[in-house]
Amino acid sequence: MSTSVGYQSPAVTVAAALPKSAADSSVLIVPVVSDGEGADARATVVPGPHLPAEAVGEIEAALRALGAKGGSEQLTRVVVPGLPVDSVLTVGLGKSRDDWSAETIRRAAGVAARSLSGVQSVITTLSELDLEGAVEGLILGAYRFSDFRSEKTAPKDAGLRSITVLTADTKSATKDAAARAEEIATAVATARDFVNTPPSHLYPDEFASRAKALGEAAGLEVEVLDEEALQRDGYGGIVGVGKGSSRPPRLVRLAHRGGGRKGKKVALVGKGITFDTGGISIKPAANMHHMTSDMGGAAAVIATVVLAARRQLPIDVVAYVPMAENMPSATAQRPGDVLTQYGGTTVEVLNTDAEGRLILADAIARACEDEPDYLIETSTLTGAQTVALGSRTPGVMGSDEFRDRVAGISQAVGENAWPMPLPEELKDDLKSTVADLANVSGSRFAGMLVAGTYLREFVADGVQWAHIDIAAPAYNSGGPWGYTPKGGTGVPTRTMFAVLEDISTNG
Ligand code: BES
Ligand code: MN
Ligand code: ZN
Repeated sequence: MSTSVGYQSPAVTVAAALPKSAADSSVLIVPVVSDGEGADARATVVPGPHLPAEAVGEIEAALRALGAKGGSEQLTRVVVPGLPVDSVLTVGLGKSRDDWSAETIRRAAGVAARSLSGVQSVITTLSELDLEGAVEGLILGAYRFSDFRSEKTAPKDAGLRSITVLTADTKSATKDAAARAEEIATAVATARDFVNTPPSHLYPDEFASRAKALGEAAGLEVEVLDEEALQRDGYGGIVGVGKGSSRPPRLVRLAHRGGGRKGKKVALVGKGITFDTGGISIKPAANMHHMTSDMGGAAAVIATVVLAARRQLPIDVVAYVPMAENMPSATAQRPGDVLTQYGGTTVEVLNTDAEGRLILADAIARACEDEPDYLIETSTLTGAQTVALGSRTPGVMGSDEFRDRVAGISQAVGENAWPMPLPEELKDDLKSTVADLANVSGSRFAGMLVAGTYLREFVADGVQWAHIDIAAPAYNSGGPWGYTPKGGTGVPTRTMFAVLEDISTNG
């Protein structure tokens, strides 16, 4: 097996002109639009300062010979002898030049990068339209995960190693924008690597060790509580969920101190169930393997706090990441057991498959002891998220104003979270006959909102909070699209980081 290293992001260079000579196995990625209607539609190169007019003419002649139409995300590979690359890959941006967003460019770049195999370096003029979108889309689209392939099926090439983005403006601000995009995409890749690492190899103690190593390398303050410390300090939810597994639970705390005395304080919390069988309330066999993604929230939170440190955000960010494996066994908790969450609330565990809220409640209560201004929690929490919103749209619940701010920012970065309510009456559904709360409601209605309602009980007054349910969006079980591969997606890393940047700037 290859050594476990995860995805190595390609290096990014900002350049003002096409290089004179070709790098080995290099491709020039050029945006095209579709001009004309129906049978007459044809691909036209989006003009920019970096392509010589003769090259544009040659590319368009080759496209015409192939009948390329330039529709949205359509790819065409052509050979143009005069250019310092082995081939040109055109990617369609569709018809309208008016409604291109960063996401249009990011997806086009992603589709282009995904189609390349055996290519080591790319040069692109997509960056003339949106430099950061081009960098993010190329890195995210080129992502691949081969840690668990032997020589029998390992890719024969090293993957994309270098990206050159052409831009008219090579000021240091542009270079910093490229570096920022590269670091963001690399953080998303880190989150994907965690999700894609199988549960045989990523269990609580191992996950905690990897988070600690990453955090320390980025200069974070790191603390890991083991099962004894969790028991001693009253983390009844994490202990209860973890006790069915031979691989004991952990709580990881990663702190970035950038705020000094005046800066805002933000808490992040992410669900880290390294595998969710359901426990004694066991899940059906079909697709149970998707539950390798049940630590997608934890993965994104770890990647985000590490990125906050790398980008030196002028705020305090403290991440709490509860980790456990939800297994059925002779030592597992039973439906009907009562446990005590961190802080003293008692809970009747009516369904051991509603385990995420149990470990999250402990972590949220602990995070609130630090008196953060904001708390963002994210988790693969409910199948009901998928029923309500589908596989690509996270649901955001929480304090009205902050929820809407998080959703707005998420849409701006292309992760597209949508605001959802927490109706007051749902609290009655969580009444227990023996304890303060039950962990599930008796009804099938509004499962995503009931889970959010449960979590709300543990958020301290005065803390602006948001809960992002990423049950399906964290893990792509369908075919690849845009810059999103199969498997771990890294959602909502870019949303959370953009919210942290927004808080850094606007409070
Ligand atoms: N990890 C699951 C939620 C999930 C389902 C994530 C599908 C990704 C894809 C969670 O722990 C769970 O089992 N939730 C239950 C809650 C129910 C028992 C109230 C669910 O959604 O069925
Ligand atoms: Mn579950
Ligand atoms: Zn779960």
